[in-house]
Amino acid sequence: MEKQPLLEKLKMGDLLLNNRVVMAPMTRSRADNPDNAPTELQVNYYTQRASAGLIITEGSQISKKAVGYINTPGIHTAAQMEGWKKVTSAVHAQGGKIFVQLWHVGRISHPDFHNGELPLAPSAINPNSKAYTPKGFKETVTPKEMSLEEIKETIQDFRNAAKNAWTAGFDGVEIHSSNGYLLHQFFNRTSNVRTDEYGGSITNRTKILFEIIDAIKKEIPENRIGLRLNPSLHGLFGMSMDEETIPAFDHIIEKLNDYDLAYLHLSEPFNDVSEIPYAETNIAERYRPLFKGTLIINAGFDKEKGNRFISEGLADAVAFGKPYISNPDLVERFRQDAPLAEWDQDTFYTPGSKGYTDYPKLEATPQS
Ligand SMILES: Cc1cc2nc3c(=O)[nH]c(=O)nc-3n(C[C@H](O)[C@H](O)[C@H](O)COP(=O)(O)O)c2cc1C
Repeated sequence: MEKQPLLEKLKMGDLLLNNRVVMAPMTRSRADNPDNAPTELQVNYYTQRASAGLIITEGSQISKKAVGYINTPGIHTAAQMEGWKKVTSAVHAQGGKIFVQLWHVGRISHPDFHNGELPLAPSAINPNSKAYTPKGFKETVTPKEMSLEEIKETIQDFRNAAKNAWTAGFDGVEIHSSNGYLLHQFFNRTSNVRTDEYGGSITNRTKILFEIIDAIKKEIPENRIGLRLNPSLHGLFGMSMDEETIPAFDHIIEKLNDYDLAYLHLSEPFNDVSEIPYAETNIAERYRPLFKGTLIINAGFDKEKGNRFISEGLADAVAFGKPYISNPDLVERFRQDAPLAEWDQDTFYTPGSKGYTDYPKLEATPQS
């Protein structure tokens, strides 16, 4: 069988990944206990997938204010850290590496999560999206524009969450600055109309991200900090692009070269943006030449496309989302060129082991 670039080791900062197959961060909404702490169920789920070169966990809220979906785990209390410790040691026992995704949803939330108070966002603009609340899907509301004090607090919450992550044994953290959540809301002009130092120019709108990186690196090594961006997100999660969107991402990515980060994790467009005049349709092609560090690419990849992107030098590693839901042994399946199991969308966010830890590994798959 031909050698696959996806299966080659990758040096990422001071870490050596066993392969270039990354498990993408995926919310699975199974932390359905009063603490929103990971349990044995999450230990089992992540351990089953520990042969990935790197696991990036589901988005994990950095504070109570950061939440926007039911039953998502946090990384801000002692109980949550205890739960995560069991996950990280089990993954490490299998030789895997695991980063936690640090999450603040911003305006993609609902007062039902905040004792009736409004969710926080850069500006008071309703994303006209849906929030998944304990009482089912509800329309989002107009959020509260964050005060400078609240911005400072949020930066400290990211820092504190990174410290907790380190204590809980994570190999590093991924800042969730993607997919229409809080930091992405700061970057885009359509969601940020502030007139202070966090709004207006591209430099101002992107400033919070660099302040967060600077705060986190006081707690953990810089080369264990990764972050995620989705530059051409349009028409989803309340995001819409304009002519300044891609220049803002150009600015961010250029500036990231001043840091010695673990990686930059980019998504190709989630939907067809070929008709959107401001959108970049080829994210890896645009940003590979610009970013000097380790680049992980994601969205809609399979084995062939992943191997091709690495061999053409467009990325160093590939993050797989949905394929990892239904194929805990994705790396082995790639190695054997085995068929992949289909994922069941109905159980993406439902409680319990069904559709979570009951997808079989290859050897247990009945032979036809
Ligand atoms: C069930 C589900 C939950 C997701 N949750 C997150 C999340 O918590 N954080 C995040 O950055 N992306 C999240 N995503 C996006 C994935 O990380 C990935 O970008 C997307 O699935 C596209 O990759 P794929 O084509 O390999 O599935 C989620 C996707 C799915 C399907």
